[in-house]
Amino acid sequence: MGIFQLKNEQRLVLETKETAYVIDIHKHGHLQHVYWGEKLPETADYEALQSIVFSPSSFEATRGVMGYDYIPWGEMVYTEPTLKASSASGERGFKWEYAGLDIAAEDSGKQQVVIKLQDSLGRYQVDVTYDVFRQDDIIARSQTITNIKGEALYIEAARSMQVSLPPASWYNLSHLAGKWVGEFQLIQEEIREGRKTIDSRRGNTSHHANPWFAIDQGAGEDSGDVWFGHLAYSGNWDLHVEKDAHGFIHVCGGINDFDFMKVLQPGESFPTPVFYLGYTSKGFTGMSHQAHRFQRKHIMPEPHREAERKVLYNSWEATYFDVSEENQKALADEAATIGCERFVVDDGWFGKRNSDQSSLGDWEVNQDKFPNGLDPLISYVKEKGMDFGIWLEPEMVNKDSRLFQEHPEWVYHFATKDQTTARNQLVLQFGREDVRTYVKNMLDKLLGSSDISFIKWDMNRSLSEVGRIGAGVGEQKQLWHEHVEGLYDVFDYIKNAYPHVLVETCSGGGGRIDLGVLQRTDQFWTSDNTDARDRLSIQRGCSYAYHQKTMMCWVTDSPNWLNQRTVPLKYRFHSAMMGGLGIGGNLHEWTKEEKEEAAHWITFYKHIRPVIQEGLAYRLTATHPKKETEIMQYVREDGSRSVVFLLENGLSFGPHPVQVKVKGLDENARYYSSDGTTATGAFWMNHGLIWPLNEEYQCEIIELSKVED
Ligand code: DGJ
Repeated sequence: MGIFQLKNEQRLVLETKETAYVIDIHKHGHLQHVYWGEKLPETADYEALQSIVFSPSSFEATRGVMGYDYIPWGEMVYTEPTLKASSASGERGFKWEYAGLDIAAEDSGKQQVVIKLQDSLGRYQVDVTYDVFRQDDIIARSQTITNIKGEALYIEAARSMQVSLPPASWYNLSHLAGKWVGEFQLIQEEIREGRKTIDSRRGNTSHHANPWFAIDQGAGEDSGDVWFGHLAYSGNWDLHVEKDAHGFIHVCGGINDFDFMKVLQPGESFPTPVFYLGYTSKGFTGMSHQAHRFQRKHIMPEPHREAERKVLYNSWEATYFDVSEENQKALADEAATIGCERFVVDDGWFGKRNSDQSSLGDWEVNQDKFPNGLDPLISYVKEKGMDFGIWLEPEMVNKDSRLFQEHPEWVYHFATKDQTTARNQLVLQFGREDVRTYVKNMLDKLLGSSDISFIKWDMNRSLSEVGRIGAGVGEQKQLWHEHVEGLYDVFDYIKNAYPHVLVETCSGGGGRIDLGVLQRTDQFWTSDNTDARDRLSIQRGCSYAYHQKTMMCWVTDSPNWLNQRTVPLKYRFHSAMMGGLGIGGNLHEWTKEEKEEAAHWITFYKHIRPVIQEGLAYRLTATHPKKETEIMQYVREDGSRSVVFLLENGLSFGPHPVQVKVKGLDENARYYSSDGTTATGAFWMNHGLIWPLNEEYQCEIIELSKVED
């Protein structure tokens, strides 16, 4: 039935294909979260849902403890607020009242519902917004705050969503933690009394935490209730998960209120970023599939959404800053010979950049390294049948640069405190229009005059001393958010002006990966950690939240630069073939046999690429307590083809066979396995493959193909 109201329009039901989300709207604008779970069969079921309200003592809200769907600060509710605001003259805690509901017609697969709250004097309005993606079982939450006719409104906190789950004996939280070269480590813990906050205060999404969560009640990979959410935002964000004294779980998140302020003058509005929420009873695999399908359909930008991600070569680990026309042409020869489809020149091609000490901001081609500009190299690369791509870091400037000499006022800084340089660089105020105009002009010059079809956009430090001399405190607290808006503005500019250019987001690896940046870029550099074994847990963790088509993985040299681990080439390839494949090693140092082997794996990757990049991922060993193997499976949505990656990952106590039951096949169809057996889907899913696990770094890829009658 979609979206409907019950109980004299007090109850709002948002139905998707398989789920339902129910809110009670109380007279004084209190929004109560009543239900979030499986769609119910009858309207009477929704009528019968109990809105739990509990009033145990005078120490709790007189309107009762309940599951909240929106919490305006300023009354006896002590969980994190969804909105905290005051007026210029000091009026706080407005009296919000319900001011109606708008239900829009369905458009492009989504239907919007807006619950309007107004302060009792009609000066300020909040639009609590729910975009219902019915076919995808996703509800997108946000709010827009408008100053209709009041004095300036000082917004101190404005989260994108608040949801609650009813008291139950047991809930778990899953989230992703990490660091540079150690992103996306899955953390699963019981939600205990108190508040758990995960966040970023660094100005970028961060390597340390990711704006994604899942809450479950003992779910496994294949079954069990999971509630999950992804925030589409690339700056300071927070997520609070609280178990209150009565057992309710309250979850709220959005822009971090740390050092945040938004001042709204009359006539101005402030829309928050969007939090995408979903529920499934099909466990963590069901959750990932639901989120990944949604990303493929609604997040990944056109026009590259459907295009296969090309096998790229990247120069970074081969030549570092020492790039030149000559050495890049020599690498391009090698890259083309082994089958690469895109050639990317990384850092070092501009200004007088021979190390990380200088030249960020001076985006002119280095004439010593490229005497005739980039075009001779670009033509050479194109003649070899590859696309050409280039590395940029436009938000940054080195003190040793012409740009900094000319515009020292463009960087974030406080009046008397020294600026912190990290990797010898400072951050440009991307909220400033003149800064963005400079960057857009640079992009026009580069992309408008040369045949460049790929940008790797890097960001190698977080923000600090986020201030602007001459601006008021309130104005300066807006700079964090303005940076993100400025970044999105430039990404949107690239997408509009140069739609053929594919953009890879990078922040020293995985420091800026979220649905906000992925609405404007096409793929991400997952981690600077290119060790094939460490990558297994990074990539598996990443798979909980993000689609493998956007996750870039490179094969680099061995021993690895990070940990000196020596890993066979086959294992390095298999580890990197579980996403978008890239090659990042110094091919001049690879033997003839290694290059032949690389060519073999690249050809094979192109053959299985449609299954990996367009298929559904199954983490077959995610729940194994003893992780001695990493087994991932990819299946085309129509069940016609599947690929199983089997990698040793900590064998101990000698060789032994491992049973691998696969998933996602048509049980009645027959499948031919690349190791020579033909059997039904039921056979492969119940008996499976028997893999003789014998030695360190053993790995196999098994293909299962449906036999057409
Ligand atoms: C960090 C990136 O993650 C690397 O791949 C490389 O592009 C360097 N920056 C270049 O400075």
